[in-house]
Amino acid sequence: MRLLLLLVASWAVLGVTLADSSYNYFRLPTALRPQKYNLRVLTHFEDPDHLNFAGTVKILVEVLENTRNITLHAKNLTIDQSLIELRDTSSDNKENCISSTEVNPIHDFYVMHTCNELLAGDIYELTMPFAAELNRQLEGYYRSSYNAPATNKTHWLSITQFEPASARLAFPCFDEPNFKAPFVVTLGYHKRFTGLSNMPVKEITPNEKIADYIWCEFEESVPMSTYLVAYSVNDFTHKPSTLPNSTLFRTWARPNAIDQCDYAAEVGPKVLQYYEQLFGIKFPLPKMDQIAIPDFSAGAMENWGLVTYREIALLYSSTHSSLADKQRVASIIAHELAHQWFGNLVTMKWWTDLWLNEGFATYVASLGVENINPEWRSMEQESLGNLLTIFRKDALESSHPISRPIEVVSEISESFDQISYQKGSTVLRMMHMFMGEEAFRSGIQNYLQKYSYANAEQDNLWESLTEAAHKHRALPKTYDIKRIMDSWTLQTGYPIINITRDYSSGIAKLTQERYLLNTQVARNHRLGCWWVPLSYTTQAEQDFRNTTPKAWMECDAVSGEVLPKTISGLPGKDQWIIFNTQLSTLYKVNYDERNWKLLIETLTNGDFERIHVINRAQLIDDALYLAWTGEQNYEIAMQLVDYLRREREYLPWKSAFENLKRMKNIIRQTPNYEFFKRYLQKLIEPIYQHLNGLNDTFSGIEQQDQVLLKTMVGNWACQYQVDDCVPVAQAYYRSWRNEVEPDKKNPVPINLRQTVYCTSIRHGSDEDWQFLWTRYKNSNVAAEKRTILSSLGCSREVWLLQRYLALAFNPQEGIRKQDSMWAFQAVAFNEIGFHLAREYFIANVDAIYKFYHPITKDMSRLLTPLSEQTFLQSDFEDFKNFVNTNRASLKGLEQAIQQSLETMLTNVQWKERNYRQVTRSVEALLDK
Ligand SMILES: *[C@@H]1O[C@H](CO)[C@@H](O)[C@H](O)[C@H]1NC(C)=O
Ligand SMILES: *[C@@H]1O[C@H](CO)[C@@H](O)[C@H](O)[C@H]1NC(C)=O
Ligand SMILES: *[C@@H]1O[C@H](CO)[C@@H](O)[C@H](O)[C@H]1NC(C)=O
Ligand SMILES: *[C@@H]1O[C@H](CO)[C@@H](O)[C@H](O)[C@H]1NC(C)=O
Ligand SMILES: *[C@@H]1O[C@H](CO)[C@@H](O)[C@H](O)[C@H]1NC(C)=O
Ligand SMILES: *[C@@H]1O[C@H](CO)[C@@H](O)[C@H](O)[C@H]1NC(C)=O
Ligand SMILES: [Zn+2]
Repeated sequence: MRLLLLLVASWAVLGVTLADSSYNYFRLPTALRPQKYNLRVLTHFEDPDHLNFAGTVKILVEVLENTRNITLHAKNLTIDQSLIELRDTSSDNKENCISSTEVNPIHDFYVMHTCNELLAGDIYELTMPFAAELNRQLEGYYRSSYNAPATNKTHWLSITQFEPASARLAFPCFDEPNFKAPFVVTLGYHKRFTGLSNMPVKEITPNEKIADYIWCEFEESVPMSTYLVAYSVNDFTHKPSTLPNSTLFRTWARPNAIDQCDYAAEVGPKVLQYYEQLFGIKFPLPKMDQIAIPDFSAGAMENWGLVTYREIALLYSSTHSSLADKQRVASIIAHELAHQWFGNLVTMKWWTDLWLNEGFATYVASLGVENINPEWRSMEQESLGNLLTIFRKDALESSHPISRPIEVVSEISESFDQISYQKGSTVLRMMHMFMGEEAFRSGIQNYLQKYSYANAEQDNLWESLTEAAHKHRALPKTYDIKRIMDSWTLQTGYPIINITRDYSSGIAKLTQERYLLNTQVARNHRLGCWWVPLSYTTQAEQDFRNTTPKAWMECDAVSGEVLPKTISGLPGKDQWIIFNTQLSTLYKVNYDERNWKLLIETLTNGDFERIHVINRAQLIDDALYLAWTGEQNYEIAMQLVDYLRREREYLPWKSAFENLKRMKNIIRQTPNYEFFKRYLQKLIEPIYQHLNGLNDTFSGIEQQDQVLLKTMVGNWACQYQVDDCVPVAQAYYRSWRNEVEPDKKNPVPINLRQTVYCTSIRHGSDEDWQFLWTRYKNSNVAAEKRTILSSLGCSREVWLLQRYLALAFNPQEGIRKQDSMWAFQAVAFNEIGFHLAREYFIANVDAIYKFYHPITKDMSRLLTPLSEQTFLQSDFEDFKNFVNTNRASLKGLEQAIQQSLETMLTNVQWKERNYRQVTRSVEALLDK
């Protein structure tokens, strides 16, 4: 909290010194509107020390109000003011001119004062030359490279990354999402390269001035926001897709990785076709390209018609990628293609509603993947994964609403977080479930139709959905979607609902308040009211299919306060009830002790499969959270967890491990770890046996999520040295080391590689480490590289871990900047590495900041392992002091730091309140 205040104060100071700059509002003036862009960019790769580009942009600008100035965005561009031209196309191309210019560095404005007034109603043609270095910073128009093994030479390529606000680094433009305009892009480059952009090539002509250079002109695009413009000059090869009747679809990669494009080339057009049918709108462009970029900061970017990816997000190797890797590729492709409608066709008016892009793309991607690969059951997996993430993130006081005010670029960047993506997706799923298929789908289709090629805000979506819901009788006429959904998108957090049953009358009383992990927050800071669709079932009924609400918790229209709610007709004292069928809504439930005990009885007596698998995961998560924050006790929670000895499904285990991990991160640093360790061994043993341990039984597994379960259980089993896990892992590793050509032949089962590598490094020699590091350097597959990076941090040798930390931030060593955080995280999540990583971070914070600047997002990920393992008041205080004295090197991480500090604080509270209780409950179960 304090941090944020200080920050605002320092901006205010900056604002004062610039107060004489004539325009200081964060949005562009509305007197002008771009109608069309003509963009020419010439790219030079000849001299590796001076990779650069130069270009000209011609913008047709419509004048809406008379004005004497033109304000647009430009950042880090060399612009020769004397060459700027301005003509009034509505008045015989009458010449106007620029009398002076100024810049506003806070908002990246470039302001041109015109010689003569621009007249409302007229259309002007503004021509601006610009030039810059092809930067190394993974945003704007930047460079990437790869090494071609055949020649051992560096090959350069160029690529754009404009979202959210970096088109201004590549050319002067009106860089706000609501200024949509068609683009005609022309790229100039040496003829041995290929040029790609949003649209297909229209015409290639020789460059009159530079020998062997060409101009490649692309067709005019549909109207689009600047952040979706994309172009690249590269020497990649491509794989065409062959799905009948689909849009022309190509997948691009460096030549040596083209054999990893088959899967993406197959999935892409399938998903695109599914969306055309789901949304009832054809994909509007004549082609789609997807391209894997070696240096890339985000996961992927949905540029219209030219989607860019990190290699790990697009490339798939059947000999190196695990099932989880494959599912990630499908899910990211599905996400980016969903954006072609949600984001590209209909765009948020302003970044406040970023979630309309990201929440939708995340949710729709789950539908897309479920459609093409139903056997993965990925809809359930992703829904639960999102819920588990948001239950944690949004239980922090320092969280924020889905829809939030945005003024500066760093705030936009911070919004690309789990709240926009996962919480956004979760509330859409909630609507889908309470409205039903027909109403939801028709509401979405109407919304997309209505706002095509335009911009919308969330109220526009609510309108379309309300209309559809009423038409399909999916919602009482007295309810509207806006009233319900505002409580989810404008409010931070989510509720906990207390259910107090009166067993003789069959009535339950429901109350709600905000759920927070920080137990010292006063009651009046937990106020809030959410419109909650209530679904539930009873032990006799056991209907987990129907997610239609049987009732609603409502909020007072005027005061916004919670209206009292009771539910009657419930069964007697020998039967449980469960609320929130299939976890359709984001809330936690607490029952009275009797109901919990009835549930535990069903879970432990072998009838647990009658409870829906997602609700089993819910019960575990709820019980462990409520014990963490003291609303229930650990005795009940651990008794419930104990049923897992019979559980054979993936989702409940996933939920359990997520929670146990948080406890482990603290307890393993304390004297009582032994009990916890022994208990986990006892808990994991049966499922480990059931899945045949690490033995290679994968080809016999039919249900695909059992593969994920086996991978996850194997990982925990080796950490806790269950059964034969460690020796089997080591045997696999030895046989790999004995291969003559280990880069070509790897006998370790793909889905166990992470566990096998990590375990063998953990218990292995210096040579084992060196062997794996060499494999990293020689690997050609991004997924394999990542697996290795995460495993190299498992060593217990202090010197190796120190060396690894240094390697991670030295680009000469072969770890790309975007991947360094995986190395750091691997060290930091290791109980020995944790202390080294923390020291390293504190000692090198300036260098790390410079390393990541200006993309601080990755730096914020380094904080996660540090905060999750800190639980001593003194360490917490130390970290607070560190933050306060190093604000300059933590700029742009304000949100992440507040959340880290709060996580540390809740750990401190947990240790003080629960440590003994947990130990006692675990000991009791050991004796059982
Ligand atoms: C440009 O002119 C408009 C009025 O036409 C004025 O409101 C605005 O402040 C001016 N901006 C600059 C940067 O001079
Ligand atoms: C902007 O230009 C400065 C000076 O040329 C350079 O140091 C900086 O890295 C550039 N920033 C970006 C994002 O390109
Ligand atoms: C490739 O070139 C680099 C330096 O340009 C050199 O250090 C390295 O040994 C070469 N590798 C091979 C396999 O020739
Ligand atoms: C492709 O389109 C043609 C003509 O529209 C149609 O006759 C044919 O059945 C379609 N093929 C598939 C596989 O959908
Ligand atoms: C819910 O129940 C818990 C434990 O019984 C209690 O501490 C809390 O105050 C209750 N909350 C509400 C909103 O009634
Ligand atoms: C793995 O296979 C070996 C050899 O067949 C067997 O002895 C061992 O019990 C198996 N391990 C597990 C956990 O199933
Ligand atoms: Zn996205």
